[in-house]
Amino acid sequence: MSAPAFQRCIIPDCAWTFDIAEILPGCPACGELVDVAYDWDKAELPKSFKDLVPEKTVAGPLEFSGVWRFRRLLPFSEDGTQVTIGEGRTLFRPAPKVAEYVGLKPGRLFLQYEGMNPSGSFKDNGMAGAFTHAKLVGAKVAACASTGNTSASLAAFASATGIMRAVVFIGSGKIAMGKLSQALEYGARTFEIEGDFDDAMARVLEVSKRAGIYLVNSVNPFRLEGQKTIMYRILAGLGGESPDWVFCPGGNLGNSSAFGKAFGELKELGLIDRVPRLAVINATGARTLSRVVNEEGFRWNGGRWGRERADGFFRDLKDKAHTIASAIEINRPVNLSKCLRALDITDGVARDCPDSDILDAKAVVGTEGIGCEPASAASVAGLKKLVEEGVVDKDARVACVLTGHLLKAPEATIGYHAQDGSLEKKYGITGGRFPNGPVKVPNDIEKILDAVRREG
Ligand code: F0G
Repeated sequence: MSAPAFQRCIIPDCAWTFDIAEILPGCPACGELVDVAYDWDKAELPKSFKDLVPEKTVAGPLEFSGVWRFRRLLPFSEDGTQVTIGEGRTLFRPAPKVAEYVGLKPGRLFLQYEGMNPSGSFKDNGMAGAFTHAKLVGAKVAACASTGNTSASLAAFASATGIMRAVVFIGSGKIAMGKLSQALEYGARTFEIEGDFDDAMARVLEVSKRAGIYLVNSVNPFRLEGQKTIMYRILAGLGGESPDWVFCPGGNLGNSSAFGKAFGELKELGLIDRVPRLAVINATGARTLSRVVNEEGFRWNGGRWGRERADGFFRDLKDKAHTIASAIEINRPVNLSKCLRALDITDGVARDCPDSDILDAKAVVGTEGIGCEPASAASVAGLKKLVEEGVVDKDARVACVLTGHLLKAPEATIGYHAQDGSLEKKYGITGGRFPNGPVKVPNDIEKILDAVRREG
């Protein structure tokens, strides 16, 4: 086992520590979330972020992986023990059409396209971390609750590595077709719970505890270690410089938590000069973070963030999450406290955007030739909103994380472009600014030619 790593309660007043070989979804002393923490003095670190990954690296599975390439910044495993299925080789690129759409100056907007992961979403970054830990502790069965992508990623890792069997819990009718296809095809045992993600999440916490199953939801701190690397790839894409802002969608709030931790550590280690500001974007139909931050005044406050008040808030919460961005259709995010910490570290903000804005933003992303699923486009819709509010300067350099691939949720894309009424029926979404539905033509050469001349 690597010397510098241990686990620690995130609350500074508690700061309970324990070995990384323990499997604990929460602090044994106070019940809060836990981090993987490092004694950085014992770690081998470069002098600057730029020196972290030499330009010419020897080709091997650890360098191929966009997660383990940065393993010096998540040093909880010995080299040779890390699990990888080729995750994290994702694209960071400018997106001029999206820049124009959101109102940023040319050259200021970049997309971090996590749809390129083996299972088509950012979850593979985290799953590499969780599987590496699971291997270390000898776990044989893994479980998750999921809005779809975690289950697809777990199923892929389980079948590709053979380390653990996969058990997944999904809300009935709540998961996009592409994602369910993956879980089934990759051989995960899939349980469809009557209810939504929040119900499934509550149940899987109980199940994993009572049945002794390894939990790979984002309460697992080793998953978040893997997800830190998404930020390292953005920094690498900018030659080691920080952008001014990073935008990401917020669901269970694992990603935002990981991003805040990544930047906090890099700053502490002197590997970056400046911490970017983080914007976490909910869908309006699942806006718990936006609500508790902007209306209830929840803040990290050095760890005294108000767990009891939050417990009361969630006890009284009757609303069920409802959004076409099904990946973030979550009203009871398990990482709320860590996300508040991330907002504190990054001077971050939270907002929410309606489904119609999310789908318009998604269609604009598509014009760049790299499609994303609805939840991912919340980051772009949120950016447009914050530029309009004047919170983000038109000159700011911004990176939007696109968390999942277009093909995950084809029903949303086709409903939007074809304007066939399917989205209105289920989500009350009408219109759409950028439809591009198929042109229907009879099987007649003259009529086809007419149509092509008119529309082509
Ligand atoms: N985007 C996509 C495509 C997702 O699948 C998720 C989460 C998020 C954003 C939100 O990320 O939870 O870290 O705030 N999907 C989880 C799942 C909940 O089960 O696949 P978060």
